Amino acid sequence: MRVLGIECTAHTFGLGVIDDTYNVLIDERQTYQPKEGIVPREAAKFHKENANRLLEELDLDNIDLIGISSGPGLPPCLNFGVDFAKNLAKKLDRPIIGVNHCQAHIEVGKVFCGVEDPLVLYISGGNTQIIYNNRGYKILGETQDIGLGNAFDKLGRKVGLKFPAGPKIESLAKKGKFILLPYSVKGMDLNFSGILTEAMRKIEKGEKKEDVLHSFQEVCFSMLAEVCERALAATDKKELLLVGGVVQNQRLQEVLRRMCEDRGANFYVVPKEYAGDNGVMIALTALINWKEEKRIEPKVNPNWRIDSI
Ligand code: ATP
Ligand code: FE2
Repeated sequence: MRVLGIECTAHTFGLGVIDDTYNVLIDERQTYQPKEGIVPREAAKFHKENANRLLEELDLDNIDLIGISSGPGLPPCLNFGVDFAKNLAKKLDRPIIGVNHCQAHIEVGKVFCGVEDPLVLYISGGNTQIIYNNRGYKILGETQDIGLGNAFDKLGRKVGLKFPAGPKIESLAKKGKFILLPYSVKGMDLNFSGILTEAMRKIEKGEKKEDVLHSFQEVCFSMLAEVCERALAATDKKELLLVGGVVQNQRLQEVLRRMCEDRGANFYVVPKEYAGDNGVMIALTALINWKEEKRIEPKVNPNWRIDSI
């Protein structure tokens, strides 16, 4: 069985094909690079301009199933992606199912790390959630305002870095020293907008950018370590899996690996090439859901939460 996955929820248009033993046969991506923040309509226009060309370059023979990420995401991107996928399914005369983008970030981590039932820390542009499976995914804690990736990108813009700012912040942060920034954990939930505002204010006041970026990382990652440690204790899970674009950050991995070592939990990180948005994770999740006979309708759902699947 061959499955095509189409990712089109935000900045990346991705096409991935896998077989039924999760071998990756095709993995193509095009990422929209905004000058400022993402403009949803411009992102959708970018996807429209690239989708057919990308499709024509691929050999899509023997596709048995199509998966499309139908939410959560930016409405203009989702609308285009779902229409595109439905038209393709009609043309190829193949079944199509909807895939939750957050579930896809998790499944790709579980399959490629070979871990079945971990506590999951999912950190991407729009999301920051601590998730576990108890007859369906449940959210134990999450950001109450913005996703950590978006906070990185906003702070990056303030110091003149282009999207995505995360990797450049990570390297500048290595040269900084620690200054105090506000730490905000409420129960199992996190807040990043307070620390972001204060970090931007410190930049405006002429504080060294390396110091602000270093401290921003240290405080945010400590907040995540606290919440994850409490979640491991509460669920009695022995494994922590990190997924989503932000988890490529080596310092974040170091902080959470150390916490896991201290409490004897196994630590896993999704492979770097599948941390950010891609079509392979959509194909893989479509296959898993198909095998479990979960035939989700490919309907645009911009606010689709993982705990409502
Ligand atoms: P969502 O999954 O919530 O829809 P998304 O799909 O936009 O969000 P991803 O593609 O998973 O997010 O991740 C992109 C984010 O990861 C960007 O905000 C980017 O700045 C951030 N990021 C990438 N590398 C790093 C890094 N090394 N350190 C911190 N952040 C990083
Ligand atoms: Fe994502």
